[in-house]
Amino acid sequence: MRMEGTAAVVTGGSRGIGLAVARELLDAGASVLIGARGKDGLEQALASLGPAPGRLIAAAGDAGDEVDVRRWAGLALETFGRLDFVVCNAGANHPLGPAVTSDPTAWRDTFAVNVHGPLALVRAAWEGWMREHGGSVVTVVTEGVHGVGPGLAAYETSKAALLQLTKHLAAELAPRVRVNAVSPGLVRTELARFWWERDEAGLAAGTPLRRLGEPEDIAHAVVWLLSDEAAWVTGADLLVDGGRRVRAGMLASPPTPEGGSGRRPD
Ligand SMILES: NC(=O)c1ccc[n+]([C@@H]2O[C@H](COP(=O)([O-])OP(=O)(O)OC[C@H]3O[C@@H](n4cnc5c(N)ncnc54)[C@H](OP(=O)(O)O)[C@@H]3O)[C@@H](O)[C@H]2O)c1
Repeated sequence: MRMEGTAAVVTGGSRGIGLAVARELLDAGASVLIGARGKDGLEQALASLGPAPGRLIAAAGDAGDEVDVRRWAGLALETFGRLDFVVCNAGANHPLGPAVTSDPTAWRDTFAVNVHGPLALVRAAWEGWMREHGGSVVTVVTEGVHGVGPGLAAYETSKAALLQLTKHLAAELAPRVRVNAVSPGLVRTELARFWWERDEAGLAAGTPLRRLGEPEDIAHAVVWLLSDEAAWVTGADLLVDGGRRVRAGMLASPPTPEGGSGRRPD
């Protein structure tokens, strides 16, 4: 992928999937602003991404705060002179328990990071650059929106809203701007540690491709969707989950080449 002379904002770029996306964009020649809340994490990310003179900056802020995300877009425009790519990757994932008993304030915070912040960032990019020059946006959703994860009502409902927003933006901003989603399955990052740490081998065995995801698996999909290689793709939801969703949708006794019934057992 060649992206020399382009510029990107990656939210949640200090670790995990966002850091892998930033690395891949830099390797492809793009300039990158990474945004996250923690300054230490951003410092560590800058060190790990290595020297990229004039092509890499970090800015602290909250992806759920419209002022902060507008500042990220403005800073990228000021520093790099353009803003071709936006990756709405930062996500709030608090298992808040059953929908009817969970804290309404925490629901609002989840929606701020997962829905309102991404919209504010895309608005800023559109106004500052993309309306005139075009661009490409990727949102990071979750494979979970295709099912129901216990205790994850706020997270999954907000991510479903982000996916629907992605499709609306794809329709509204075409043909100048392409807007796509990537929906990761279980990826070995801090955010998902609670789910994978206790039984990584079992989870891998239950995944058709026999391992959990790595941040780079998701980054490859994100950067491909951003790039001109995906020039005829917009409004897509690219599932990158090692095949887990296919497996979840399988019948208990699938048809076999030898002619099994394919019916569920009684
Ligand atoms: N890992 C998975 O299995 C998985 C599966 C499906 C979807 N996803 C989605 O993938 C995205 C990235 O997750 P990840 O697994 O890479 O998580 P991660 O390793 O925990 O990294 C999260 C990154 O986002 C930043 N961040 C978190 N909340 C933020 C906020 N409010 N404002 C600004 N930055 C914030 C973090 O830095 P600070 O904490 O310093 O702010 C960090 O840089 C999320 O949207 C998540 O929902 C992940």
